[in-house]
Amino acid sequence: MYRAVKEALKLGYRHIDCAPIYGNEAEVGKALAESISEGVVSREELWITSKLWNDCHAPDDVQPALEKTLADLQTDYLDLYLIHWPVAHKKGCLFPNTGADMFSLEKLPLSQTWKGMEAVLDKKLCRHIGVSNFSVPKLKALLEVARVRPEMNQIELHPYLQQPEMLDFCRKNKVHMTAYSPLGSPDRPPALKENDEPVLLEEAVVRRIAELHGCTSAQVLINWAVERETAVIPKSINPARLQENLSAAFLGLSPEDMVDITDLDRQRRYVSGAFWALEDGPCTVANLWDEKEGA
Ligand code: A2P
Repeated sequence: MYRAVKEALKLGYRHIDCAPIYGNEAEVGKALAESISEGVVSREELWITSKLWNDCHAPDDVQPALEKTLADLQTDYLDLYLIHWPVAHKKGCLFPNTGADMFSLEKLPLSQTWKGMEAVLDKKLCRHIGVSNFSVPKLKALLEVARVRPEMNQIELHPYLQQPEMLDFCRKNKVHMTAYSPLGSPDRPPALKENDEPVLLEEAVVRRIAELHGCTSAQVLINWAVERETAVIPKSINPARLQENLSAAFLGLSPEDMVDITDLDRQRRYVSGAFWALEDGPCTVANLWDEKEGA
């Protein structure tokens, strides 16, 4: 991770998407600090995002969590701080084993967590605040009570999961979107994959468009997100792919290409959130995304 971040900054990447649960903020911080002291990039040119983990949703836990992230990332502010999931765990429980390790959203409401987010914004520990993995109903409910509006929803977005209602809602309400897993998240652990799942990077329509433009499927997928005016965060630790992915910003898919890709939507989540749906717990896949059971 340290090498990948240093390489990415040299190539011209400026948006670094972090989270304490990724277990590598100290390595990212070392790469950031070195790159700044070597003159590769200045702090002002960077956009550093991180996220509040699920066991720190109590309002008073937000600031200490952010301070730990700031210390690890070796910076005194974040550009953007997000609530990572609309799911709350007991303090100190990183991954719940049973439902008893979790709080329901009635017991620890997202509106309370948001007060903690507003407080760290007031203290200038971050410049913008937002959410991740929020459905339209959860975003709507938060917008109704927020003193400071969430400026970002970071969600899974790619041609198999286009989420048109979310795009429409966010555009109308001036909430930006960041597309995660834009390549279909091929590096997920096998336990989180289904046997028969479609492989986005092998999609025939995407391949045909790539051939037309003399580029790779990954570049088509990234430029599709750029054309939709969402931020996009493809991951790679491979220097050649880092370069390939960055240059995809300038590919310029045509309106016809965009229409062909629109037809690929199949509401396919690669990150289903099923890991939060424990038998005796408050979270189900349906109430996580506010979708009808079995939809
Ligand atoms: P690697 O790190 O070896 O490049 P996502 O961003 O959708 O979560 O997907 C991340 C995965 O996609 C990583 O396993 C990464 O592997 C792989 N990946 C990143 N860029 C490309 C690319 N240009 N072509 C193919 N695979 C890529």
